[in-house]
Amino acid sequence: MTNNHKKPVLFSKNLEKKFGDFTAVDNVSFEVYPGEIFGFLGPNGSGKTTTIRMMLGLLPPTSGTINVLGIDVIKDADLIRPNVGYMSQKFSLYNDLTILQNLRFYGTAYGLDKNSLDEAIVRALDMAGLTGKENSQTKNLSGGWRQRLALSAAFLHNPKVLFLDEPTAGVDPVSRRSFWNLLYKLIAHGVTVFVTTHYMDEAEHCHRLAFIQNGSIIAGGTVDEIKNSVLEGQMLEISTSNIYETIKYLRTSMREKTLPITNIEIFGSMIHLMVHEPSKNINQVKIKLAGFVEIDHISIIEPTLEDVFIASMQ
Ligand SMILES: Nc1ncnc2c1ncn2[C@@H]1O[C@H](COP(=O)(O)OP(=O)(O)OP(=O)(O)O)[C@@H](O)[C@H]1O
Ligand SMILES: [Mg+2]
Repeated sequence: MTNNHKKPVLFSKNLEKKFGDFTAVDNVSFEVYPGEIFGFLGPNGSGKTTTIRMMLGLLPPTSGTINVLGIDVIKDADLIRPNVGYMSQKFSLYNDLTILQNLRFYGTAYGLDKNSLDEAIVRALDMAGLTGKENSQTKNLSGGWRQRLALSAAFLHNPKVLFLDEPTAGVDPVSRRSFWNLLYKLIAHGVTVFVTTHYMDEAEHCHRLAFIQNGSIIAGGTVDEIKNSVLEGQMLEISTSNIYETIKYLRTSMREKTLPITNIEIFGSMIHLMVHEPSKNINQVKIKLAGFVEIDHISIIEPTLEDVFIASMQ
């Protein structure tokens, strides 16, 4: 997607956060455009939550610029709050309340009056597929339904931007899928979503992504742009009945530079290899391997986002 003609809904420029001597967020810049789902990916402790909290005006940055919906967040955090929704990583719902009571509580906290609250609750229940479950006790909900309820609470006040911090952590694949369908419904209604996740299948569903590691963005763009920018060369997939010996041989060949391999990963019963200049090198890898172990097949494959993520983290 080219966004050159659009104005970003939110952006950060050279954003930095230090805790004492420790730099948790280091020179982070990104732009998120209208109607996008923007994915923020990174390992534990890489600075995702810290970045979100700064974007929301909940944590002052050490330096840098933040703009959400045209508002300078560092100066005017109070002005953006009515227009953004936040589902925090450790979102809190009141277990002893029903679904309806939880929504009433959050809606009131967002400052909705009685009439707009009633309307908002009907809309949120419908959108989230919770209609009919209003009077269920929150403590009896499964993880997937809790997540949907937490998301409903975050968009009750009809925000233009949603910040979701690992919203589907610990939820089964089917519930995650329906949560994402709900996100697509929201962006169809003009909402823009900033989401952190550890799940690669979810990342593949984002319009654009940024990878963050140790507080710095190391790759960004659409899935295809990231694949092209991070990985040089081609990915080969090898299947062999002797995976252990093959891996050992390949690692030695990479270390001693006797084969043009730049990265080796095990994916289930397959080995993924990054090599330069495939046409010449596939044959070279094939011939060398054939003389050493039995190979079932070897072929060029399109790298997955997981391949790219792991390669870029190294
Ligand atoms: N208030 C704080 N004081 C000191 N260090 C902090 C504080 N908050 C966060 N950190 C540190 O900053 C780094 C980034 O933390 P952050 O919570 O942003 O990571 P994250 O990417 O959200 O991780 P996770 O995937 O585990 O949620 C971590 O090393 C964390 O320990
Ligand atoms: Mg976090």
